[in-house]
Amino acid sequence: MPSFANAVNEQVGYEFAASQQYIAIATYYDAQTLPQLAAHFYRQSVEERNHAMMMVQYLLDADEEVVVPGVDAPQTRFTDAVAPVSLALVQEKRVTAQIVELVKLAREEGELVGEQFLHWFLQEQREEVASMTELLAVVERGKDNLLHVEEHLGRAAGGESPLEVGAPPAAGGVL
Ligand SMILES: [Fe+2]
Ligand SMILES: [Fe+2]
Repeated sequence: MPSFANAVNEQVGYEFAASQQYIAIATYYDAQTLPQLAAHFYRQSVEERNHAMMMVQYLLDADEEVVVPGVDAPQTRFTDAVAPVSLALVQEKRVTAQIVELVKLAREEGELVGEQFLHWFLQEQREEVASMTELLAVVERGKDNLLHVEEHLGRAAGGESPLEVGAPPAAGGVL
């Protein structure tokens, strides 16, 4: 398997790992009766799953073998309500670095179709790092009364991001 296809397969695993981590964060907030924070991360989890399936569709289209990798268990225990969002921001920054490395590899190997496929993910990461940075600021400001955070998320909810319109197709369809 060419190393670019191999690296895309690895990234499928990282996207599923991100999805699992967001389910773990969502259930942490759900257990504390913070439904807006929970809903936010349940939705993020589905988005990460969709990212994985977009990469699977790319591999299918490129006639490369699809390997669905196993993932490490997510962190499920947190010291306070701020910690999950801090972890999520670290995760989004790590994924950004991973996508950048994938783009560099595509260039090195002359995989320009693959590089073009990844451009959407660069935009998506810019958006996700920005929105998680904002959420961290909101949660830090509201940590002594999390109902303020819930109200903020309740007001901000709804509206599809314009990015979703130009998203690559996902194997089996986007959820
Ligand atoms: Fe992702
Ligand atoms: Fe993400």
